[in-house]
Amino acid sequence: MNVLGIESSCDETAAAVVEDGRRVRSSVVWSQVALHAPYRGVVPEIASRNHLRSIVPVVDEALAKAGTDLSGIDGIAVTIGPGLIGSLLVGVQFAKALALGRGLPVVGVNHLEAHVMAAFLVPDRDPPRFPFVALAVSGGHTSLYLLSRPGEVALLGRTLDDAAGEAMDKAAAQLGLPYPGGVAIDRVSEGRDRAAVKFPRSMIKDPTLDMSFSGLKTAMRHHLLKRPEALGADEVGDISASFQEAVVDVLVHKTIAAARANAVRDVVIAGGVAANRRLRARMASAAEAAGLVLHPVPISLCTDNAAMIAGLGHRYLFGELSSAPLPRGLEMDPFVRHVADGW
Ligand code: KG4
Ligand code: ZN
Repeated sequence: MNVLGIESSCDETAAAVVEDGRRVRSSVVWSQVALHAPYRGVVPEIASRNHLRSIVPVVDEALAKAGTDLSGIDGIAVTIGPGLIGSLLVGVQFAKALALGRGLPVVGVNHLEAHVMAAFLVPDRDPPRFPFVALAVSGGHTSLYLLSRPGEVALLGRTLDDAAGEAMDKAAAQLGLPYPGGVAIDRVSEGRDRAAVKFPRSMIKDPTLDMSFSGLKTAMRHHLLKRPEALGADEVGDISASFQEAVVDVLVHKTIAAARANAVRDVVIAGGVAANRRLRARMASAAEAAGLVLHPVPISLCTDNAAMIAGLGHRYLFGELSSAPLPRGLEMDPFVRHVADGW
């Protein structure tokens, strides 16, 4: 079964073809990052208008790269939320129209659930075993979940203010690094001194699994006020590495605590920030020390993409979730089924 996935929740227009829910046949991401960079953040109106321009060529390219056309597609999955409403509408209406025109089933899926379930898109290794704990860490979210079985999720803890990616993006802006900041911090931190600046690890001693990252930008501002002269590249690297270490310390500590508290064996890390090399390395050694099996989402599938949408969509269209009941209010819509409570 081939599922065409469509993702347009933020500033990436993406389409992908995934076979049998696990094998990625194509994954095309058209990033608008250059259009939003001058504003140092995503401008919703610019995002929606550019999704409109790019959705048809992106879907065409995903089909071509998979070596197929619409006749080789068995179903369509589209991100239905959370996200920017104008951006989401472009993908959802496109998917509905395509499904109606071709007589195909279509399912609307949750973006966060898709980020986490991208850990299953690695055909050559054993998939995560339920129940597992997942850290979903991106520009908009930083949350820990317990997935007890497919489609069943409980929120264990989350950031009470900024998301970790948002904190990275803001810190990078303060340091004069390019947008998106998490990517820049990852790059300039390589080989630099992670203990150069003492940044706070907020809530690390708090017994809950909640987190807080907003104090970091104040700490960064205070540090930079003490250094009013222009910073050299090495110093920017040291400050970035120290900042990154503070974020990583909290994420690793809370994730391992969540796994222990829920007595699971498997742990997934997902979302844009899960592409961070230091987070991946630290999480791998902490998981090994704790006897846990870590499933990091492949780097190419951490930031927004449509393969994760198609992979999850397969479960709802043809897999173990295909008979899940429709939530109230959506039974009337013959096209879009949205089955994702708890995220
Ligand atoms: O998942 P994503 O593409 O979009 C959201 O759903 O938010 O995540 C984007 C976030 C941005 O904050 C970006 O700076 C961060 O992920 N990010 C990274 C890295 N790559 C992307 N943060 C740290 N290290 C990276 N390598
Ligand atoms: Zn995302």
